[in-house]
Amino acid sequence: MTFDGDHGLILCRFLFDGAGLFLWGVSVYLACLVPARLSQLLDHRLRVSRNVAVLTVIATTAGMLPLRAAAIGDGWRDALSSSVLQTVVLDTGVGRAWLAQACLSALLIATFALPGRHRPPARAVCAGLLVLTLAISGHAAMNSGWLRVLHRANDALHLLSGGAWLGALVPVLAVLPLLHDTKWQHEARPALTRFSTAGHVAVALVLLSGTANTMLIVGGVPSDWSRTYQVLLAAKIGLVGVMVTLAIVNRYVIVPRLGLSRSLLALKLATIAELCLGVAVVALVAWFGTLAPV
Ligand code: HEM
Repeated sequence: MTFDGDHGLILCRFLFDGAGLFLWGVSVYLACLVPARLSQLLDHRLRVSRNVAVLTVIATTAGMLPLRAAAIGDGWRDALSSSVLQTVVLDTGVGRAWLAQACLSALLIATFALPGRHRPPARAVCAGLLVLTLAISGHAAMNSGWLRVLHRANDALHLLSGGAWLGALVPVLAVLPLLHDTKWQHEARPALTRFSTAGHVAVALVLLSGTANTMLIVGGVPSDWSRTYQVLLAAKIGLVGVMVTLAIVNRYVIVPRLGLSRSLLALKLATIAELCLGVAVVALVAWFGTLAPV
């Protein structure tokens, strides 16, 4: 495949993974942890970013198939060849994942027809399944037999816990200013406390499943610097380390001082930093996931 095609695939993976994780994290947080009235307010306030994410999922799903066909076939001239497209969809793991993604994208659009309060749970189910399709197409497919099943299950846990942590940071940012709003603070406080409790579980699961993924793919600590995969994986682990440190500082240093002036601003800035690092993590994984690990 050509140089440009590789870059197109990595960009598509980054946008698809980012939008899918965002939709999953936001929807599951609004559906399960935020009181109903506040959930509807946040759902309305986040409508632009949510709609952009849905459009991104649709556009990248449409773009991914020709890119896969070009990669598997003989370059760009096979990108729109009906026989190559058919072979990719029917005979490959990435093709089957693509078919599931196309159906789930259609269901995601259908959620807009639902009444307001049913949208976050319906979107959480669609986006959760969408994120799970990544476990079919990633390096989890490199094993066979029971190890493949185990690897895919671990990947599924990794994707759902990582997305829940990262995606929920966006509505959490919208909750922070409401802590001092007399009309909303009674709902904003439990929404933040529940995020903090569930966040501990999500972070623990992402670290455990990420470590298991690394063991299953690389066979140990990434340290072969001649392999771009291992260099980027090590960079990803470093970034996640900074994210976890920020999360700990937020929870145990800043939150107990929330009554003090400027602590809310500190919490907001630290959450934005955590979010930006998370985007960089998704960009790295979109890149090294296309490379040979060992
Ligand atoms: C904020 C935390 C994290 C997020 C959001 C995250 C996200 C992701 C995503 C989206 C994928 C799948 C990409 C795809 O198949 O398209 C993935 C795979 C992976 N992650 Fe993470 N991850 C996080 C933390 C970690 C940690 C801490 C480790 C290691 C200790 C790790 C190791 C891996 C490995 C080895 C893969 C497999 C990539 C492949 O298929 O080649 N991740 N991660």
